[in-house]
Amino acid sequence: MSDWRVWTAQVDDADTLVALEALAFGGRSWGGDSVKASFVASGVTVLFGGLAKDSAGPLGFVLWRDLGEQAEILTIGVVPDARRSGLGEALLEAAVQAARNGGAEKMFLEVDAANAAALGLYMQAGFKTIGARKKYYRDGGDAAVMALDL
Ligand SMILES: CC(C)(COP(=O)(O)OP(=O)(O)OC[C@H]1O[C@@H](n2cnc3c(N)ncnc32)[C@H](O)[C@@H]1OP(=O)(O)O)[C@@H](O)C(=O)NCCC(=O)NCCS
Repeated sequence: MSDWRVWTAQVDDADTLVALEALAFGGRSWGGDSVKASFVASGVTVLFGGLAKDSAGPLGFVLWRDLGEQAEILTIGVVPDARRSGLGEALLEAAVQAARNGGAEKMFLEVDAANAAALGLYMQAGFKTIGARKKYYRDGGDAAVMALDL
């Protein structure tokens, strides 16, 4: 387990986010334009996470959206070399805490029903599956809809 710190990314960090997202998602990346658009999307916050003792760049990110009573995790990713060391958990926890502090009562997300790592991460954080969306993804994969009471 490493010590992680999580901070809020700024518009200047857009290129860093594009590179991180591409590394984390490979062929299933949103693509640069969509990633950059999230910085100006209403209610969206971009959090970066990296080693606490290191002033080098981020190794992971989470995008969450404030929708008033509800909040939503839009995407989360950790670069392959830094996985399974608690960074995903630290990022998710920071987004959950920020949404709770902002007054949201429930947090939602959609996840590829075949993505064992993401399902494990969300279940460990207390998210429960509340529904399914058939053939939700371009490749025909189903999505699970999950929710957490804040
Ligand atoms: C999902 C992802 C963000 C997890 O990041 P991470 O830093 O490796 O996660 P953590 O180390 O904090 O793991 C927290 C918990 O999640 C679960 N988990 C993480 N990776 C897992 C895997 N490969 N298989 C099963 N469970 C896994 C475990 O319960 C883990 O706790 P443990 O290590 O004590 O067993 C990372 O695998 C990733 O970037 N994947 C590619 C992008 C992606 O699919 N994002 C989700 C889109 S919705």
